Amino acid sequence: MLEQDLVGQHWVITAGPTMEAIDPVRYISNHSSGKMGYALAAAAIARGASVTLISGPVQITAPVGVNLVAVKSANDMLAACEHAMQSQADVFIGAAAVADFKMKMASNQKMKKQSNTDELQLTLVKNPDIIATLAQQKRAKIMVGFAAETQNVIEYAKSKLERKGLDIIIANDVSRSDIGFNQDENQVTVITANKVWEPAKATKSELASQLVHFIHEHSQPSR
Ligand code: C5P
Repeated sequence: MLEQDLVGQHWVITAGPTMEAIDPVRYISNHSSGKMGYALAAAAIARGASVTLISGPVQITAPVGVNLVAVKSANDMLAACEHAMQSQADVFIGAAAVADFKMKMASNQKMKKQSNTDELQLTLVKNPDIIATLAQQKRAKIMVGFAAETQNVIEYAKSKLERKGLDIIIANDVSRSDIGFNQDENQVTVITANKVWEPAKATKSELASQLVHFIHEHSQPSR
C-alpha cells in the first residue's frame, strides 16, 4: 500500500475530449481517450486523495472510489469544475482536451442537406479557457495544465504556464505517434517557474504516479 499522504486533500481533474453540438445529431470533438486524466485520478486516489473527475465522453471506466461527473461541452465542464470547487480544492489538473471552438448557435433541429450548394459554412466562436478561468478565480491551491505541442515544446509550454496563470505545466510532443493521444505510453516534460523535469517514457499509469508525487512535493511549503 502506498503512503496515504493525500488523505484530507481534494483533487479535481478534467479528462477526455469535449463534445460541442452542431445540431441534435452532429458534433465537433477530438481524439482524446481520457487515459492520462483517468490514470492521474487513480494515482491520486491510491495515495488517499478525494478525487472529483470531470470527464468528457470516453470509452474507459472510471477508477474505483472516484467522484465522476460526466459532461459533454466545454461550458458544462467549466460549470462542473466551478461547482466542484466551491470550496478551494488542493489541486486542479486540466488534462481534458477542450475543443477550442463551439458553434455560435447550435441548431435545435437536424440541419438539412441543401441541394443547391456544395458548401456549408458553420460559424464558430471561442470556448471559455477552463483552466485559465479557474486559475484566475483561485479555485485550487495548485493549478496544473497540459500542453500538447508539435514543435518548440518547452518554449510554448512556458508561455502557456504564464499566460494561463498555472503553477505546473506538463508538456508533450504530439507529433510523435508512439506517445500521447490514444496511446498507453507517454513521455512528458514537466515545467514550473523555476524547474524543468523530464521523466523517462513510461506507461500512463506509471507516469501518473510520478506526476502526482511531483505535484504533491511542489505543493509543500518546504520545497
Ligand atoms: O491552450 P491549450 O489548449 O494548448 O492548453 C492546454 C491546457 O489548457 C490543458 O490543460 C487543457 O485542459 C486546458 N484548456 C482548458 N480550456 C480550454 C483549452 C484548454 O482548460 N478551452
